[in-house]
Amino acid sequence: MPSFHRLALLACLALPIAGHAAHGDDRSVPFEQPVPASGLAALPPMGWNSWNHFAGKVTAADVRGMADAMATNGMREAGYVYVNVDDTWEGERDADGNIQPNTKFGDMKALADYVHAKGLKFGLYSSPGAKTCAGFAGSFGHEKQDARTYAAWGVDFLKYDYCGARDQYPVTQANQEALFRRMGAALRDAGRPIVYSLSQSGEFDIWTWGPKTGASLWRTTPDISDRWESMIDRGFRQLDLAAWSGPGHWNDPDMLEIGNGGMTDDEYRTQMSLWSMLPAPLLAGNDLRTMDAATRDILLNRELIAVDQDPAGRPAKRLRQEGSIDILVRDMGDGSMVVGLFNRGEASAAAHLAWNELGSRFSAPTKVRDLWRHADVDPGKPLAPVIPRHGVAVFRIYPG
Ligand code: GLA
Repeated sequence: MPSFHRLALLACLALPIAGHAAHGDDRSVPFEQPVPASGLAALPPMGWNSWNHFAGKVTAADVRGMADAMATNGMREAGYVYVNVDDTWEGERDADGNIQPNTKFGDMKALADYVHAKGLKFGLYSSPGAKTCAGFAGSFGHEKQDARTYAAWGVDFLKYDYCGARDQYPVTQANQEALFRRMGAALRDAGRPIVYSLSQSGEFDIWTWGPKTGASLWRTTPDISDRWESMIDRGFRQLDLAAWSGPGHWNDPDMLEIGNGGMTDDEYRTQMSLWSMLPAPLLAGNDLRTMDAATRDILLNRELIAVDQDPAGRPAKRLRQEGSIDILVRDMGDGSMVVGLFNRGEASAAAHLAWNELGSRFSAPTKVRDLWRHADVDPGKPLAPVIPRHGVAVFRIYPG
């Protein structure tokens, strides 16, 4: 983990304690009216975010490089359109209180123009605190002004991270709700459609009140890391929250780690499959300029992306769990069903599925498609794949 990332993480953990001790618990944020749904992000947003790979080291040149890669490697055509700069772009405010990018970024409007010229969209990060999670300038007291600045720069997506506000206010649901609504209203009035993405670790069941902040997605878990346990925990936790996710309002189990090097390709195939089945936002977090063919094949699995982007946006459910095999199913808008067989064990394992387990409609399927092998399989036989350690098989089944 880059040392900057570690520092930011420590800051996230340490600030609430320091903040409470320093100020006591009597400060509450004035109430803010609910903000209606924006109507943006009918489908889970897809794109790239700088944090997982670059953390505090990201520069404008890196971001331009990502946009170049996305416009030429098939990602843009596959639906990955947001190019999102996470924390550490922020500089000082000018005499009128306008936020300025720091020297790593220079001219933010020029960067947004560059990204737009590639047929992509541009995202930024801020916090309701005076400081962001990594200690840069946050939006506290400048929400309306910052929203107008973002609109003027051409920002299309804002990730708004509570972490930095923890040293200013006691961590209560009321305070979080008010501060998230405040920016939601500011974005609504900014004169440009900006997808609003909330970031905290799933405190206070944010999925129950996130929809009233104007946000289209909200993080439901602490930060992901590039490790199997971290990824699988965050992904599978979403099954219990399925009722709170759907078109225009998405649970967000955090960004993709695919291609960052800490997991095997089987494990990365599992993340792609699980996130697509949930469905969850698909925000790549690797260096797109240098990714290998296996990583590209995983991120660009068009048959899985079609699952993620199914307009019906119905959630995955667990069909059953047996030994190390976990079977998830998801109804697609066209009447087909997607079945994911996940091997969470430490050795390869055989999975079995009889068609009648999927209900009478699927007792004699007309077509069964393997979404990783990109081939049809014999619908006359039950499924019996052998699945590698931490691996997955995903099939799309069409009823008779
Ligand atoms: C928090 C968020 C991360 C990232 C960092 C940036 O930890 O959860 O996703 O945005 O802040 O400082």
